[in-house]
Amino acid sequence: MNTATENFNISPFPEGVSAEEILHFGVEFARGPLALACSFSVEDVVLIDLIRELEINVGIFALDTGRLHEETYEIAESVSERYGVQIDWYFPERDAVEDLAREKGLFSFRQSLENRHECCRIRKVEPLGRALANFSGWITGIRREQSITRAEVAPIEIDACHGDILKINPLVSWRETEVRDYAKRKRIPMNQLHNQGFPSIGCAPCTRAVKPGEDPRAGRWWWENPEHKECGLHRR
Ligand code: ADX
Ligand code: SF4
Repeated sequence: MNTATENFNISPFPEGVSAEEILHFGVEFARGPLALACSFSVEDVVLIDLIRELEINVGIFALDTGRLHEETYEIAESVSERYGVQIDWYFPERDAVEDLAREKGLFSFRQSLENRHECCRIRKVEPLGRALANFSGWITGIRREQSITRAEVAPIEIDACHGDILKINPLVSWRETEVRDYAKRKRIPMNQLHNQGFPSIGCAPCTRAVKPGEDPRAGRWWWENPEHKECGLHRR
């Protein structure tokens, strides 16, 4: 269902456009069903809030890697109740997880970058491909400020890794303070870990709290170099 690339010039997408306008453009450009990829970070809940306000019809899916924090499941239920939305959960292929655990144990991702990518591929990237199969575009909460790997992300992109569907990043130019201010103003439910030193939340064994002044993603795969800190969901 890839209708996104015809007739529209989205590259380069204009800068200085609000999150609401990016969402509206996204709906228009995609001309087909859209889904929000939701990790239940504050960014993603802000997006659910915006989407509800704009009355845009968007599916919401989450990838359960099997290694998420308890707090993430708790916030998922709160968000679902607060907004009355259904969350479509995607899980890794059972055989792949069983083979990985049998062959390499439960913490293989600490042994090498290759092993870490393998675990992310099995638990996140493959399920993402299934989740996106029937959509013309997906919405994410990524922001440029988050890491050097995201510094050049555009508000709307063509996602060549998923069949040239649209990738819509409404918060791309938001600072962390803007996200927090919005969340406070709208009293949106927050993952408790955000108040315990976790600006960025992924899988439990691969995320730690950061110290004041540390890079917001310093707690993600903290044993790796910053340029490696992607799991493959946002390949470009
Ligand atoms: S990651 O690639 O390093 O894990 P990050 O945690 O910064 O990504 O989240 C960036 C965006 O990726 C989120 O705003 C969300 O759109 C998407 N995302 C990340 N993890 C998940 C998940 N488990 N389920 C669904 N979407 C996710
Ligand atoms: Fe595996 Fe860690 Fe990647 Fe989660 S973040 S899928 S536990 S390597």
